[in-house]
Amino acid sequence: MRTALYPGSFDPVTVGHMDVIVRAAAQFDRVIVGILHNPGKPSGTFSIEERIALLEKAVKGLEGVTVKAYAGLLVDAARKAGADLVIRGIRTGADVEMELQMARLNRQIGGVETLFFAASPGTVHISAEMVRQIGRMGGNLQGLVPDSLVHSIGTALAKSQ
Ligand code: PNS
Repeated sequence: MRTALYPGSFDPVTVGHMDVIVRAAAQFDRVIVGILHNPGKPSGTFSIEERIALLEKAVKGLEGVTVKAYAGLLVDAARKAGADLVIRGIRTGADVEMELQMARLNRQIGGVETLFFAASPGTVHISAEMVRQIGRMGGNLQGLVPDSLVHSIGTALAKSQ
């Protein structure tokens, strides 16, 4: 059984994340969407529990896809998840340098390989950071986050400012 771990902050999940999840689900028996805290970033807007609930709603019906939160290093999460490899999406050149560094470090410190998915053209301009900014100012999140979450994410962000 081939298992992939798709790690990220998912604060909150976007249609860009869903693009990668759906495509990964077509390639692997199991895809574990892993919510990891990035120590280089502040603790986040949505709590881990909220991110799990949003992601679980978003992946409902996708066969083989589950959601789990992990603390600590990505390589340890990959081991705990029993993952054969890690998946990351690449949007533009701006992502490449950081992603290559992470992939090389994860291979060096944990023997974990990373498989990159080229983001679909319709999603390359979308980031969770921009979603948070737009949502906080009451902007329209249609097409930026999964349809089923537009209302809940929009309401939560509008309240969070
Ligand atoms: O969605 P993001 O913020 O781009 O995800 C980044 C994330 C959480 C995958 C990355 O920061 C990470 O792997 N954090 C866990 C800590 C870790 O393993 N750091 C070393 C990676 S080289």
